[in-house]
Amino acid sequence: MALLEVHGLRKAFGGLQAVNGCTFNVEQGSITALIGPNGAGKTTVLNLISGILKPDKGRIVFDGHHIQRRPPHQITHRGMNRTFQISLNLEDMTVLENMAVLSPVGGMRGLFRPDISKAERERALELLAFVGIAHLAHEVTRNLSYGQKKLLDFASLLMADPKLILLDEPAGGVNPALLEKIIDRVRQLNDQGITFLIVEHNMEMVMSTCNQVVVMAYGTVIAEGTPQSIQNNQTVLEAYLGKVAS
Ligand SMILES: Nc1ncnc2c1ncn2[C@@H]1O[C@H](COP(=O)(O)OP(=O)(O)OP(=O)(O)O)[C@@H](O)[C@H]1O
Ligand SMILES: [Mg+2]
Repeated sequence: MALLEVHGLRKAFGGLQAVNGCTFNVEQGSITALIGPNGAGKTTVLNLISGILKPDKGRIVFDGHHIQRRPPHQITHRGMNRTFQISLNLEDMTVLENMAVLSPVGGMRGLFRPDISKAERERALELLAFVGIAHLAHEVTRNLSYGQKKLLDFASLLMADPKLILLDEPAGGVNPALLEKIIDRVRQLNDQGITFLIVEHNMEMVMSTCNQVVVMAYGTVIAEGTPQSIQNNQTVLEAYLGKVAS
C-alpha cells in the first residue's frame, strides 16, 4: 500500500520547469530514496510534498488525504515531517528550546514561549538520548558542531511522531562515523514502522539503507526500482554521466 502518492506534479520558477510531471509512490514501511543529478528537482519535490511550495499542477495523496493545497503545519499534523538541506536551528536558543520550537507540537507557540511542558521536555530528552546528544540539552545551539546540529534536526522532527519522514541529504557534509549513526537510527525507526523518503547523493547510504529508489532528472522520474536494478540501469547511468559531461 502506498503511504504517499505523487501524481503529475509540476512546478515552474519563472521560465524554468523545475518539476515537470513527476509521478511516484512511497510504499508504507519502505525506505525510499529519491536520487538524481544536481538540479533534477528533488528538493523542489520535497518542498511540494511538505507544503512549503504549492504545485502548479498535480496531486499529492498522503495517508488517503489530498494534501496538495494544504499548508505545512496541517501536513505535519497528519503525520509527515522533514529536515531541510540546511539546518533551521535557532542558534541563540538551547538545544532543548530548539526541540520545542522545531516541534510542530510547540510550533509558533514555542517560538514566543520556549519553556516547554513536562511531557514535551521528557519526550525531547528521550529523543536527544536516542540520537546521542542528551548531554547537550542545555547547551546553546551555536556551540554545537555541524554533525551535532544534524542530529538535533533529526531528533526535533521526531517530536511530531511522524509516520513519514522526509530527509534532504542527511549524509551531506557528514563524517563516516556520524553517517553510520544516522543510518542506524533510520533503520531503528523504520523497524518501528516509520516510512522514509530520503533525498541523497551518497550512494553508499542509498544502496545500504533504502529498499526502493526513485530516480529523477530534468524534473521527471526516469527510473524506479530496487537499488540493485537502478545500479545497472542504462538510462540512470546516462543521466548522471550526461550531467558530468555538460
Ligand atoms: N526558489 C527557486 N527559484 C528559482 N529557481 C529554483 C528555486 N528552487 C529551485 N530552483 C531551480 O529548480 C531546479 C531544481 O532545483 P532543486 O533544488 O529542486 O534540485 P535538486 O535536485 O534538489 O538539486 P541538488 O541535488 O543540487 O540539491 C534547479 O534548476 C534550481 O536552480
Ligand atoms: Mg536539493
